[in-house]
Amino acid sequence: MKLNLVKTLPFLILFILTACQKQETAESPMQESAMTSSELAAKFPSDLGFSTIDVSAYPRDIQEDYKIFLAVCSSCHTPARAINAPMTSEQDWKRYVHRMHVKIERRGYLLGKEDEEKIVAFLKYDSKIRKIDRKSEFASQQEALGVIFGQISKERERLSREEINRLPKKETPYVGVK
Ligand code: HEC
Repeated sequence: MKLNLVKTLPFLILFILTACQKQETAESPMQESAMTSSELAAKFPSDLGFSTIDVSAYPRDIQEDYKIFLAVCSSCHTPARAINAPMTSEQDWKRYVHRMHVKIERRGYLLGKEDEEKIVAFLKYDSKIRKIDRKSEFASQQEALGVIFGQISKERERLSREEINRLPKKETPYVGVK
């Protein structure tokens, strides 16, 4: 796929700007990186995108469903993971929400069937508005997140190589003070 620079560039610039801004306050005890710890912790490209949605133009009931979505779906990972996920169909969302349901149960909590349906209803409606009806905009966001995630993966590799280099060498074991 060809990178659409015109559409992708604003996201990249925004990312670089926020990365620079956060650098001053970032707490990285042993490593130096231009990326924040939460960026470095991203497991999916979608983790790096928006973590809230402007639902003010959505129907009332969907706005209520959104609140449930936020409460439930941000307790283990950022809600950005679902908000910027590539899936859009009701079937996909049913499958994913059910998969998360199982994880929630394993933690000893319960997600009621009604709440599960409300979350699916929200994700289905929102996918239609943001991901299907505005397909090309969403596609360029996805591309941009993919690019940033690639850079982050490289940075993680660099940092772990640095960590390994900092470890004491096997050839010079500590022999104690004589
Ligand atoms: C109990 C913890 C927990 C909760 C609560 C949770 N998730 Fe997740 N989620 C995970 C973990 C762990 C992963 C990592 C990948 C995996 O195991 O599927 C994940 C991954 C995902 C993914 C990416 C899956 C992929 O393979 O692309 C999506 C999308 C997602 N979650 C959506 C949701 C939604 C929507 C909700 C709310 C219904 C939710 N999550 C609530 C733990 C949770």
